[in-house]
Amino acid sequence: MAIKGPRTVYACQGCGFQSRKWLGKCPDCGEWNSFVEEVERSTKKDGVTLSRGGLKLHDNKPVRFNEIEAQDDSREMTGIEEFDRVLGGGIVPGSLVLIGGEPGIGKSTLLSQVADRLSELYGNVLYVSGEESERQIKLRGERLGIHPMGLFLLSETNLEKVFDEINRLQPQAIIIDSVQTIYSNKLESAPGSVSQVREVAGQFLLLAKNLTVPVFLIGHVTKDGMIAGPKALEHIVDTVLYLEGERHHNHRILRAAKNRFGAANQLGIFEMTSRGLIGVPNPSEMFLSERPLGASGSAVVAAIEGTRPMLVEIQALVSSSKFGTGRRTTQGVEINRVALLVAMLEKRVGFHLSGDDIFVNLVGGISIDEPAVDLGVVAAIASSFRNIPINQNTVVFGEVGLAGEVRGDQPCRCTSQGSRPNGI
Ligand code: TYD
Ligand code: MG
Repeated sequence: MAIKGPRTVYACQGCGFQSRKWLGKCPDCGEWNSFVEEVERSTKKDGVTLSRGGLKLHDNKPVRFNEIEAQDDSREMTGIEEFDRVLGGGIVPGSLVLIGGEPGIGKSTLLSQVADRLSELYGNVLYVSGEESERQIKLRGERLGIHPMGLFLLSETNLEKVFDEINRLQPQAIIIDSVQTIYSNKLESAPGSVSQVREVAGQFLLLAKNLTVPVFLIGHVTKDGMIAGPKALEHIVDTVLYLEGERHHNHRILRAAKNRFGAANQLGIFEMTSRGLIGVPNPSEMFLSERPLGASGSAVVAAIEGTRPMLVEIQALVSSSKFGTGRRTTQGVEINRVALLVAMLEKRVGFHLSGDDIFVNLVGGISIDEPAVDLGVVAAIASSFRNIPINQNTVVFGEVGLAGEVRGDQPCRCTSQGSRPNGI
């Protein structure tokens, strides 16, 4: 069927999948009712399409590997230690960093503090807000006790106007709060749609690389999928950080989900106070502070998150199920891993757990996917099942195998450098 006139496509607002027809369910991410009609972008003759990831920065020619300047020594430190660590040891000039998180979690607060430090250390910083007026941002700044001379606030939602101001001010760092509120004149779709946020992020990527300044994009993560989530941007930006935490608790976790300039999975732990986010230098102390001493079902595990070892409490509750088969509910540890360890306890240790509900919870809202938590899970479940508390000064860690053995650090588990035994 030939289509005449301006062509439109239907794009999934969750993941960006495009289709000529409206679809009820996205075949890519499985989201229901997420397709919205958008005007298709005309692809320029020079073949620069952001959606294909084919970014063209300038007239590129092959460069000798040895002649490329390494940039690693030029990282900019903010002095906010937890933030610098999550970025892999400071900010890389020219990088595009996305900071995602639910509304109200503290993204604007964190970035205001970062803007303050950067403006003090490196020169003018531009904070563009499409959500709040300059006065609101100033009020927050006063609450945080910051008085930065080099921080400029701009309340604007039009991308082209923001670029004009950037050209005028020539800032050393740019913060966009939030990417979902900014729109480009080039597209007809509404701010916050997948095509707009991609266009905006793509333009800021070019800007960051051309001016060699860091650009921070704040992105709201919403559960209903109505606003294009940061997921749609993850492949465009250099680094993706998520600010997480429970509203009713004071601590916040900044997690690197992707980092082209450092290790992913780095964690930064903050506490939300009346004067903004303050780094927690010893997270283990915080995670163990409310530990119920002498209670069964609680075990302390040591795990490496990023580059830092951390002590975390695992709690398990084993209770007889009202229905024939027990439920398994986990928070912070993978449910399939727990199911496997429970099966191991049944088969190898002789515990009868199939008729019991088992809840396993990693205290503090963090999640750990390291195999070393296995033994902690096993110990906590066994402690709850037998109702015997574990000695409060004991730390357990180790990967548990299917035969019920605690596995050592064998060479074949090393992924990059370790030599692998033959046949593995
Ligand atoms: P905010 O940074 O505006 O969240 P986001 O940008 O992610 O939507 O902060 C949200 C909450 O943080 C708000 O409910 C008030 C609280 N808050 C503090 O507890 N202390 C502070 O110093 C500030 C500035 C905010
Ligand atoms: Mg905000």
